[in-house]
Amino acid sequence: MRKVLIVGATSAIAQATARRFAADGDAMFLVGRDGSRLEEVAEDLEARGASRVATFVMDADDLDAHAGMIDAAEDELDGLDVALIAYGTLPDQAACQQQVALAVRAWHTNAVSPMALITRLIRRFENRRGGTLAVISSVAGDRGRKSNYVYGSAKAALSTFLEGLRHRLHGSGVHVLTVKPGLVDTPMTASFDKGALWSTPERVAQDIHQAICRRRDVCYTPPFWGLVMLGIRTMPRWLFKRTNI
Ligand SMILES: NC(=O)c1ccc[n+]([C@@H]2O[C@H](COP(=O)([O-])OP(=O)(O)OC[C@H]3O[C@@H](n4cnc5c(N)ncnc54)[C@H](OP(=O)(O)O)[C@@H]3O)[C@@H](O)[C@H]2O)c1
Repeated sequence: MRKVLIVGATSAIAQATARRFAADGDAMFLVGRDGSRLEEVAEDLEARGASRVATFVMDADDLDAHAGMIDAAEDELDGLDVALIAYGTLPDQAACQQQVALAVRAWHTNAVSPMALITRLIRRFENRRGGTLAVISSVAGDRGRKSNYVYGSAKAALSTFLEGLRHRLHGSGVHVLTVKPGLVDTPMTASFDKGALWSTPERVAQDIHQAICRRRDVCYTPPFWGLVMLGIRTMPRWLFKRTNI
């Protein structure tokens, strides 16, 4: 039985992953902005076998709230084994180009906030020389593209931060996992046309659960996105800037 903190627990990907923890009989502390939706998720997880589920309302943009939330999670579960950081927003790229405040808000929610939270949280794992930190970044952070470089640059910062953290903690017993989903059909992407490259939250959750159990460093999910992004990352710049991706 693991003690699992999930921040952004109402996210479709987080919920599907939490169901896998519930099937293992894990205890969970769910954090999100919407208290009534958190309660619904908690009831569902209890019905699916979670040994214990508690909820906590927090807007992750409020950096001052992070420390109290971590204290509450540790008190409620009597320690933490796994933390899954799942929250995020997908801003309108064109609107961000016109209104800098929208871009700044997106960088705050997708980069500044998780990096601040992780900086506080990781000390607890370091002190006990163990635990898994799993953070949902994105393939969008692997290379800036014209269609979403505000979001992509935030996820790039997050991925680079996690890479450095993993480097620092090598040999410490603390596991740092970067999750890089491709295109996933969730409320975040509800307005997009779906095609062959799209996956479900359940498919992505299976990979996240497995990557946590196997203590992987980076998880492209589904795995074919690792190959797709290798192609995109290594494309010569003169060619890349002429593409329409
Ligand atoms: N869907 C994709 O194609 C895709 C691809 C790559 C990466 N990702 C990443 O996967 C993660 C999960 O997203 P999803 O696809 O599951 O979308 P989702 O269902 O729309 O979930 C997004 C979650 O983030 C929460 N959130 C946003 N701002 C927050 C804040 N300030 N404080 C607390 N919670 C906040 C939302 O809470 P509310 O319900 O209160 O709004 C919601 O639970 C995100 O990090 C996203 O960037 C998604």
